[in-house]
Amino acid sequence: MPFYHKLGKIPHKRHTIFRKPDGSLYYEQLFGTIGFDGMSSNLYHEHRPTQVKEIKGSYDVKPKIAIENNLKSYRLKGFQITPHPDYLESRKAVLTNSDCDIVLASPQGSTTDYFYKNADADELIFVHKGSGKLRTHLGNLDFKYGDYLLVPRGTIYKMDFDDENNRLFIVESRRPIYTPKRYRNWFGQLLEHSPFCERDLRQPHELETNDEKGDFLIKIKKQGRIFDMVYATHPFDVVGYDGYNYPYAFSIHDFEPITGRIHQPPPVHQTFETDAFVVCSFCPRKYDYHPESIPAPYSHSNIDSDEVLYYVDGDFMSRNDIEAGHISLHPAGIPHGPHPGAVERSIGQVETEELAVMVDTFKPLMLTEDAMEIADDSYHKSWLEDGHEH
Ligand SMILES: [Fe+2]
Repeated sequence: MPFYHKLGKIPHKRHTIFRKPDGSLYYEQLFGTIGFDGMSSNLYHEHRPTQVKEIKGSYDVKPKIAIENNLKSYRLKGFQITPHPDYLESRKAVLTNSDCDIVLASPQGSTTDYFYKNADADELIFVHKGSGKLRTHLGNLDFKYGDYLLVPRGTIYKMDFDDENNRLFIVESRRPIYTPKRYRNWFGQLLEHSPFCERDLRQPHELETNDEKGDFLIKIKKQGRIFDMVYATHPFDVVGYDGYNYPYAFSIHDFEPITGRIHQPPPVHQTFETDAFVVCSFCPRKYDYHPESIPAPYSHSNIDSDEVLYYVDGDFMSRNDIEAGHISLHPAGIPHGPHPGAVERSIGQVETEELAVMVDTFKPLMLTEDAMEIADDSYHKSWLEDGHEH
C-alpha cells in the first residue's frame, strides 16, 4: 500500500511499553513483506499471535494442469463455474504459472466457521457480482460490484456476503502487487497524470477487537496446500496498528480513462503492477477523436506476454460473441486483434461502455482442468472470415 494508515490505539513510540487498562501488556507484531525491506505495519494484539494449539493436517489445492504448453487462443465461459456454499471450495484456478493463479469463484455463503490466510500470495479480488464486507485482522472494508480488493499476503480474513449471488475474479500473486511506479513520484505519492489517486483508495475503517480464548481455526495456504491450524486466541484481537501494509479497496468505476486523438495502447489502462504481470482496467470512455481515427485496436503481437481479458459489462467492440463473465486468453507468440467486421464497425463511434479487467503475464499460462470444463474449443478460429463466428 503506498501510504500511511493508522487505525485504533497505538503507543506514542514503536517498540515501547503499551499497557492494557489492567496493567498487563499489549503484544506488538511487525507485519511486513520482502523480509524487512518491503511495506510493513506495527500491530498491537490483546494476546501473543503465536499461540498455535494444534495443526490438524493439510490438503493439496494446487491447480491441476490440463495444458502445460499452449499456443492456442481460448475463450472461457466464466459464469459456467459452479457456485459453491463455501468460499474456499468455490475458488477454481483456471490459469496458472509460477507467478500467479487466475481464479474464478462463485461463493454462495460467507466464511463462518474458519478464518483464511494466504501465506503464498497477495490476492487481488475483483467483485463482478455481489456485495458485502471483507473482514480482516487489520480492519474491515465494505465491497460491492466493481471493487478491486487488494489483500496482502498474510492477512487473516473472512468474507461476508449480503446474498448468494456472487461472482469473483481473483488473481493470486506470488509477486507483490503495487500501483504502477510511473504514476508515483519519488516520495511515493500518486502523480497528477495517474488515472486514480490516494483519495480513490479505500482503507480499512472498522477494527474488530476480540479478547477471546478458545479454538480458532485458520486455514493457511502455503506452497499450494491448506493447513488447518487451530489457534488459542481470536485472530481478530488487534487494538490498533499503523504502517503501510494493509488491505485496501479501489473501485474500477473510479478509474479515470486516458484517451487521445488516436488509439491509445493498453498501458494507459494499467491499474496495478508486479514484476511478473500487469493488471489493466478497460472502462467506459470517449473514443479517439482524430477525424480519421480507427477506435478498434490494431492486431498486435504480444510476443512475450500472455493476455487474459475478463469481460465485466458493456459491449465489447473488438470481439464478436463475447459476454459478461467470459475470459479470453491470447497466448504469447502469435498475433491477435479485432474480430472480422470490428474495425469497420468501430469507425465513427464516439464512445464505449465496455468494462473489462486485463491481466498480462510475462510467463506463459497453463490451463487447468477446471478451465477445460468451461472452454470454448473453437475460439482460436474465430478470426476467420465467412461465418466462422460462433
Ligand atoms: Fe491484446
